Amino acid sequence: MCGIIGYIGARESQNILANGLGKLEYRGYDSAGIAVCDGECIQTEKTVGRLDNLQEKLIESPKQGSLGIGHTRWATHGRPSNENSHPHTDEETEFAVVHNGIIENYLDVKEELIADGVTFTSETDSEVIAHLFSKLYDGEMISTIQKVVQKLKGAYALGVVTKNDPDTLYAVRQASPLIVGVGEDENFISSDIPALLEHTRDMLILEDGEIAVLKREGVSLLDLETANPIERDVFKVDWDMEQAEKNGFDHFMLKEIFEQPNALQKTMTGRFDEESNKVDFQELDWTADKVNNWNKIYIVACGTAYHAGLIGQNAIEELTRIPVSVEIASEFRYRRPIIDENTLVIVVSQSGETADTLAALRQSQKVGAEVLGITNVVGSSIAREADNVILTMAGPEIAVASTKAYTTQVLSFYLLGAYVAQMKEMISDEYREQLVKGIQAIPSQIEEGLEHTKGLQWYAESIKDSKSVFFLGRGLDHAVALEGSLKLKEISYIHSEAYAAGELKHGTLALIEEGTPVIALATQDEVYEKMLGNIEEVKARGAQVMGVATEGNMKIYQYVDETCYIPATLSLLTPLLSVVPLQIISYYTALALGKDIDKPRNLAKSVTVE
Ligand code: F6R
Repeated sequence: MCGIIGYIGARESQNILANGLGKLEYRGYDSAGIAVCDGECIQTEKTVGRLDNLQEKLIESPKQGSLGIGHTRWATHGRPSNENSHPHTDEETEFAVVHNGIIENYLDVKEELIADGVTFTSETDSEVIAHLFSKLYDGEMISTIQKVVQKLKGAYALGVVTKNDPDTLYAVRQASPLIVGVGEDENFISSDIPALLEHTRDMLILEDGEIAVLKREGVSLLDLETANPIERDVFKVDWDMEQAEKNGFDHFMLKEIFEQPNALQKTMTGRFDEESNKVDFQELDWTADKVNNWNKIYIVACGTAYHAGLIGQNAIEELTRIPVSVEIASEFRYRRPIIDENTLVIVVSQSGETADTLAALRQSQKVGAEVLGITNVVGSSIAREADNVILTMAGPEIAVASTKAYTTQVLSFYLLGAYVAQMKEMISDEYREQLVKGIQAIPSQIEEGLEHTKGLQWYAESIKDSKSVFFLGRGLDHAVALEGSLKLKEISYIHSEAYAAGELKHGTLALIEEGTPVIALATQDEVYEKMLGNIEEVKARGAQVMGVATEGNMKIYQYVDETCYIPATLSLLTPLLSVVPLQIISYYTALALGKDIDKPRNLAKSVTVE
């Protein structure tokens, strides 16, 4: 949540900061601002609303200087307003600070500062940091930073500039992500990699409890407590810049939907043994003994990643017979789940930075569980802290609504289930071959489906004025229905609910009336007939039903108003195909309503606060 950026070099910083914020805007877009130091003084410009508002102000009143910081905000403490925008400064504008995270004890600190005579101009938790710098400055920045952070409780990634030291950019990390980009005679900080890719591919990841000191000619990392220098290798990002651009698509979301075949292909590449065609996760250090000791698996995640976990639960239980519980991370961390050294905990997170998921990882490790991370971001907190990691190879996902990250997470679960089943010798060669063949066919099957989206566009137009849309399914179809419903509500703002189809008549059926759109998934062979019965129940109450079924299952045609067929595959694998039309329907519904598809209201891509 919130994006921060910083630059020090030979170039004018204003546009570098503003362009970088454009790439970070997905992390929050309630307001934006920059602070630039020209060697003598710090000038800030900040404004509520989208980055465009800031850009306009910067055209009217450009800020000069080759050192600067910028921020794009997702409001937590204090509503979106000019005053609450970052950067925050002290009263004399000697220090400017951008902050991502939450200062939990800010009210106490604020009270102390007010008692000392400090005047606050915002309602944010972050402003206390700027005033603390001013109050505690001892003529030397590292010791001042140490004193400031001693006063803070919570999560923070900070970018700090001061006119007392106009040739240095300082950054601090404690539980919020921060990357250092290493250039030639110029260096950068950012909350995320894509914002820096147009300048450098050489990155340093700042760990919790570290300070980065950026000069024009180089970067040094220091331990926050001792100020001792830290050696760290630069890592090279091998993403293409193009992957972080729209590439001719109107929205990142649509581009990312269409990237799914490729993302899935990349995620499975190298994960089959060339000779035996068995699933092979060379990156996992698991032995058969270890795997055989697991008597329980938890999958912990938030939002769309949680929905991927629901598919994972089905796949792993089906293939390995190990009991699996799927938990919402924000719930899991505040109860006392039964975990020990015979438990595998799988945390799933596109960003690898979601605060609740990360907390679940840490808690599980504390009680001795093995933690596997499934994440899309190399170098993210989850990638670094989990005992083992499966990287999804979706490439940067920019749209707030997750699509390709979801399908690559689901694929990872299928591969993982098969891998564990192989280790436990619980999968026959025949079934494994069928499964692997099915998985390998998925990218081209999705591609095929993406060639025919006209009918879905038309359907989206027809539901755009509905007050509510229902998604129904049984088993795996229910898990996909939950994801379809989340996609629709988050970008079109139409109320929607997903229900296990057999459960509807226990209450929610009361909401179905003449014309209510229902999207009914019926891809699971074992419950196909049952699902047709459930469709009849809603039809009898006047629902307009779109059925999603597997090619060849013609009977559904007589029960529904519209049908969308997905290519035939194993029942276990249908989620990878059936979710795609739901993503497309959501996209075109939001488009028909003129919504801001890539940046839906009130949301942010990366939720690094609780
Ligand atoms: C919805 C969406 C969110 C994320 C959730 C977890 O489209 O993207 O629900 O899935 O915020 O984020 P990660 O996967 O980064 O932990």
